[in-house]
Amino acid sequence: MKLKDKVAIITGAANGIGLAAAERFSQEGAKVILADYDAEAGAAKEKELTKLGYEVSFIQVDVANRQSVDALIEQTINHFGQIDILINNAGITRDAMLTKMTPEDFSTVLHVNITGVFNCTQAVVPHLVKQGHGKIINTSSVSGVYGNVGQTNYAASKAAVIGMTKTWAKELGRKGINVNAVAPGFTNTAMVAKMPENIINQMKSVVSLQRLGEPTDIANAYLFLASEESSYVHGHVLQVDGGIMM
Ligand code: CAA
Ligand code: NAI
Repeated sequence: MKLKDKVAIITGAANGIGLAAAERFSQEGAKVILADYDAEAGAAKEKELTKLGYEVSFIQVDVANRQSVDALIEQTINHFGQIDILINNAGITRDAMLTKMTPEDFSTVLHVNITGVFNCTQAVVPHLVKQGHGKIINTSSVSGVYGNVGQTNYAASKAAVIGMTKTWAKELGRKGINVNAVAPGFTNTAMVAKMPENIINQMKSVVSLQRLGEPTDIANAYLFLASEESSYVHGHVLQVDGGIMM
């Protein structure tokens, strides 16, 4: 098992990619905190995974709210006694063309996707430094690497995630903490299901593998970066996108 007895906090783990990661990490022996603001799905998934014999616990959190994040970290320490891995996976979209994007939708996306990642990382890092080891994995996107029509706010936020990843790699490497990012391509979750069908088809046609990613494709990349197999991978942005726009 690749993560035996490691404690992982996965934000946005009640659905989609985060949920696939929670399952994958559990299969590899991790104890997982499902951290999400969707209380209904979170509680249901905790029940389902526990029935399978996995050690998981749902904690409701709004990553954009610092007090809520501080409570998440405190409860995790109380429950599992340590934190080894943080996956900053929670994220949202509010798509619109530049000329139609409201200031509220611009700042809401930045608040969740940038401040949320900052909040969780800043709150977890003192524990990782004390232990002298830890893994932080941030979720960027192909939109943050290449830009995307209708995603001024989201592309800005996911480019910011890359900037924070590289900065934290430089700050935290000497403390024994690995920091990397995954930049998924278009992946089969509720986030993509909201897109107009013709645009989903257009996106598939520019992917070399000619299909959307599946949540487990991304979860496997998180697993690699969370495991000891990637101990010399640092400050890296791993694109998992089926070969989009190479
Ligand atoms: N490439 C090029 N041109 C595009 C385009 C694209 N991908 N999408 C739209 N356009 C063009 C349209 O053809 C149209 O052109 P004309 O003005 O010449 O007719 C113009 O842009 C306006 O398009 P719409 O009529 O669709 O405008 P709208 O205001 O009704 O909707 C939108 C705009 C909300 C952005 C809608 O097009 C949309 O939802 N697009 C999908 C955006 C997207 O890709 N989101 C990704 C979500 S998944 C995700 O975010 C995960 C991840 O990390 C990748
Ligand atoms: P999803 O919409 O299926 O799941 C996102 C989860 O995050 C939900 O459970 C939601 O409740 C939670 N969440 C949202 N805001 C939150 C907040 N403020 N606090 C706590 N939890 C919150 O999305 P998906 O597709 O699983 O996306 C996961 C991550 O992957 C996101 O960061 C997304 O931007 C990124 N991504 C997704 C891609 C895709 O094509 N699906 C492509 C590239 C990146």
